[in-house]
Amino acid sequence: MMNKPNWGLIGLGVMGTSLSRNFAQNGVSLALFNRRLEGKEEKIAEKHCNKYPELKAALPFEDLSLFVNALQSPRKIVLMLTAGAATDSVIDQLTPLLEKGDIIIEGGNSHFEDTQKRADKLEAAGIHFLGMGVSGGEEGALTGPSLMLGGAEKAYPLVAKELEMIAAKNEKGAPCCAYLGSGGAGHFIKMVHNGIEYAEMQLLAEVYEFVISDQNQDINTLQNMLGEWLKTSSKSYLLEITHVLLGFSENQHPFIKLIRDEASNKGTGAWATATGAKLGTANSLMAAALHSRFTSSNKGIREQNAKTFPKQQRHQEVSLEGLKKTYDLCRLINHHQGFEMIREAAQLYGWNINLSTIALLWSEGCIIKSNLMFSLIDHFKSKSSIFEMEPFIDQINTDIVAWEELLEKGIKLRIPLNCISAAWQYFMSITQKQSSANLIQAQRDYFGAHGFLRTDSNDKTVQHGPWARKKN
Ligand code: 6PG
Repeated sequence: MMNKPNWGLIGLGVMGTSLSRNFAQNGVSLALFNRRLEGKEEKIAEKHCNKYPELKAALPFEDLSLFVNALQSPRKIVLMLTAGAATDSVIDQLTPLLEKGDIIIEGGNSHFEDTQKRADKLEAAGIHFLGMGVSGGEEGALTGPSLMLGGAEKAYPLVAKELEMIAAKNEKGAPCCAYLGSGGAGHFIKMVHNGIEYAEMQLLAEVYEFVISDQNQDINTLQNMLGEWLKTSSKSYLLEITHVLLGFSENQHPFIKLIRDEASNKGTGAWATATGAKLGTANSLMAAALHSRFTSSNKGIREQNAKTFPKQQRHQEVSLEGLKKTYDLCRLINHHQGFEMIREAAQLYGWNINLSTIALLWSEGCIIKSNLMFSLIDHFKSKSSIFEMEPFIDQINTDIVAWEELLEKGIKLRIPLNCISAAWQYFMSITQKQSSANLIQAQRDYFGAHGFLRTDSNDKTVQHGPWARKKN
């Protein structure tokens, strides 16, 4: 009798299809399930098995209990579904069909707090639950994604071999796949990945804005410039695709100008921004990138306001070298904020996360892979923060003047530089020995008796100002 497959995959949308093909190409025998929706989704799994030669040997199903029975124990079932209610509904249908020791690996873009709840609920039922962040889009899922796992620690060794097989390998041959901690750790890390991704994308949009707003420059100049940047340590996947995108044209006009200037989002950037606020870590670049998308989508209001508040732009000669230095520094600040957010969360949730491992996971397969990320694998082995890493300290101290000049020009050009300026403000604040927060504390104490610590004493009990006596 034919051996039963012990890997199953549910959900054959774009990501599920690519991931199932990746498993099959790596020799993993599979059962595939896709729901049946009369007239809309019929025999999807079967059609996939016929369409893709590598899935020829996979077993297709539309009946969940037949699918579960076809799998060898302990079952390893990957869910690739829309995050939220759809995922919960399938987990609820699946759970009564499973046996103790079976493993669910949920690979959607789920909120880490949902993953935490699912892990707790399923663990109580004896089912191991792993939340898996998957990055790399459709192509990454097919050829090698970055996989960020969290949840049932004892289940990870049972699935590690196959997951590492399908994951991306970085230039040192290391698989971009790891177990990161209990509950929602994997999806937390994927969420931070997306927050960094938003800011990396926005920084490139601001570079675009700068070059295009200078009347002497055109898309070609920008494309050539990015082509040069790709030959340096600034190289990244997002820079690479931006360079490619700018090369497209239609009727001899740059295609990029045919796209409406309204950015969408699917929510993970908002989760990352809100989570930073909950954790109390400054993640102002991801927030700025998110808010830039929000304002961009108010096209009608922007057009109206543009008439009410006409801008008299003063032409500025932009130094392309200065622009590159600024871009590089802002990327350092963006990565710094993202990694700090992870460090903070690891302490709060008790995850034993090594930042070098995170850099490794993000060094191939994912959207934010870059030369910088690859270099961080080694840097994080001896230092716990980007602000402690010698080459970056030197870079910031040397290139900060270019950053300052660029911001001045941006103000005169009257263009929004949300991420570049958020990075500047953050850097100014985080490197300031004496801040103005003493005034905030005085105000809080005045209207709410919230108290403060004194500069002339080590006493940790809160004090009140002389205004308290006056008010009585
Ligand atoms: C990835 C991406 C991927 C995607 C998100 C964010 O790592 O493969 O982050 O998850 O880009 O869907 O999309 P939005 O820009 O629509 O929020």
